Amino acid sequence: MNWIGNGDVTKEGDLVLLMGQRQNYHLVPLRKDADLQTHRGIVYHNNLIGQRWGSKVVSHKGNPFYIFQPGIEEIIRNTKRNTQIMYAKDIGYILLKMSIINGASVIEAGTGSGSLTQVIAAVVGNSGHLYSYEIRDEMQKLAKKNLSRIGFEDRVTFINKDIEDGFEQENINAIFLDLPNPYDYINQVKAALMPGGFFGTLLPTTNQIVKLLVVLRRKYFANIEVSEIMLRHYQPEANKLRPTDRMVAHTGYLIFARSASGQENKTSL
Ligand SMILES: C[S@@+](CC[C@H](N)C(=O)[O-])C[C@H]1O[C@@H](n2cnc3c(N)ncnc32)[C@H](O)[C@@H]1O
Repeated sequence: MNWIGNGDVTKEGDLVLLMGQRQNYHLVPLRKDADLQTHRGIVYHNNLIGQRWGSKVVSHKGNPFYIFQPGIEEIIRNTKRNTQIMYAKDIGYILLKMSIINGASVIEAGTGSGSLTQVIAAVVGNSGHLYSYEIRDEMQKLAKKNLSRIGFEDRVTFINKDIEDGFEQENINAIFLDLPNPYDYINQVKAALMPGGFFGTLLPTTNQIVKLLVVLRRKYFANIEVSEIMLRHYQPEANKLRPTDRMVAHTGYLIFARSASGQENKTSL
């Protein structure tokens, strides 16, 4: 099962996005006789079930909401979290850079709250697979709950383990590490990646990147890229089109590399 419902009318069990007037939104699974309390009044689920996608409903105070199928970006932004999560601007580029497409076999660590997990699960399809490693059991419980909201549980294997002890798979197409010290696990990455496979990581500070670069060169990784994605939103008003007042100025740097042949290069530091 997945969250993109079939047909053009909402039904009980569908995950819906209720979009208010000021782009504020709620994500709710539709349940008969349930209601949703919002700052703009109560919305009764019974009034939402059986509506055409894209139609407008009103709260008990008369405030309007549109009913949409949630997009993957809205699902990620709405993910319940206990950790820093990854954002759309970074995830989109990661998928392209690491060729994470239908059929790919992928490893990620750590699972965290599972925001990247959900996107990779959506993208690799039924013929691909994601192995998601996490040292803290309680994080994976939350990530599993987040994933179950959109389905695709059968595309992800959660492994509760310190990656210091290595990965259990080999010949993996792409490995992404979202944890503070990826430079400590490059041997493990190399052992699990297919020859030429894609490695990627996200690091918040340049000091960490320097440490990583030294290890990547030594362990025969090629085609190394360090980048940062900036995204600027504009307020969509025809008569005062301009950037919004606030901006996320920094999430992290992205580092990518390909696993080349050879194990240790002591001379290229
Ligand atoms: C920033 S969070 C990952 C967030 C995740 N990418 C997301 O989008 O929700 C980092 C996670 O890495 C886990 N972690 C740190 N070191 C680890 C290790 N050696 N092995 C496995 N997991 C680890 C932490 O417990 C934490 O949950």
